[in-house]
Amino acid sequence: MEGAISSGRPNTRIAVVTGGNKGIGFEVCRQLGSHGVTVVLTARDETRGAEAVEKLRSLGVADLIFHQLDITDTSSIATLVDFLKIRFGKLDILVNNAAIGGVEFLQELDASEEKFAGMDSDQMLEWMVKNVREPIDGAKKGLQTNYYGTKHVTEALLPLLQSSSDGRIVTISSQFGLLRLISNEEVRQEFSDIDNLTEERLDELLDKFLEDFEADALEARGWPTGYSAYKVAKAAMNAYSRMLARRHPALRVNCAHPGYVRTGLTMSSGVLTPEEGARNVVKVALLPDGGPTGKYFAQGEEASFV
Ligand SMILES: NC(=O)c1ccc[n+]([C@@H]2O[C@H](COP(=O)([O-])OP(=O)(O)OC[C@H]3O[C@@H](n4cnc5c(N)ncnc54)[C@H](OP(=O)(O)O)[C@@H]3O)[C@@H](O)[C@H]2O)c1
Repeated sequence: MEGAISSGRPNTRIAVVTGGNKGIGFEVCRQLGSHGVTVVLTARDETRGAEAVEKLRSLGVADLIFHQLDITDTSSIATLVDFLKIRFGKLDILVNNAAIGGVEFLQELDASEEKFAGMDSDQMLEWMVKNVREPIDGAKKGLQTNYYGTKHVTEALLPLLQSSSDGRIVTISSQFGLLRLISNEEVRQEFSDIDNLTEERLDELLDKFLEDFEADALEARGWPTGYSAYKVAKAAMNAYSRMLARRHPALRVNCAHPGYVRTGLTMSSGVLTPEEGARNVVKVALLPDGGPTGKYFAQGEEASFV
């Protein structure tokens, strides 16, 4: 449900941020707000969303609206679209932030940074991979949320983004989505051949991934392991973004890796604060008019999808 008030200033840019109640998404909302953008903070849980909005207001972000959005729920997506249509008639910026790890932690999540003291980022990542279990249900949910959910939100909001004079989509990606992590050369080639790749083929590749997952054949078939579904979903989302950028040259459609950030997703491991990670995303969202599209940015700088 809609939760609050916009100043209704004319000519301001409107942004939707998915999963804005915590972590990087929360900070993206704060920073976009501080740049004069009207922010629609969305969250799947109304209470958590309303609390985040209150907190942002107390931090001085005035032009902020809450709307419920579960990215895996088509009726929730449709309700948001209707609301935006009536309220603004357009959307200028979509930040696809919401995601899950698709794993189960083997240890209590105590959010203490002490256990990572003295570790570099490779050691922290190794610790993370060793301390999670990836059940098939988690992998399926990971693909459903991180790829299909993000794609459905994007598709549903496309007409509103096209009604903007400068529509932008920033999908938060990850170094875990880089193609070099897929050692199966044929699959890697298909993910990167954007001229010939189709959404149907991407679906088939993801089905194949799940088949190989169930057959315990990920390594043998050259899929990434350790957060495997997260990695494959991010790689698929990168490919989808590139396809979308080609299809809609009037929009700016980019992917942004925020860096390794201390949030719930990383069990508070990482080297950046959510504020620093969000800055890398907001920089891409607010690139000058006519900037790059179909690109990948690693910590604010254009980089390779491979
Ligand atoms: N942290 C890192 O080092 C890192 C690195 C690379 C990329 N990223 C990416 O950065 C983004 C934000 O991650 P984070 O680190 O800030 O994680 P986080 O603190 O766990 O936040 C994830 C957010 O996504 C929301 N979410 C999950 N499933 C959802 C759904 N079905 N519908 C709507 N919202 C949903 C969560 O809501 P609830 O509170 O309701 O669960 C939460 O608001 C993700 O795309 C992640 O892949 C993070």
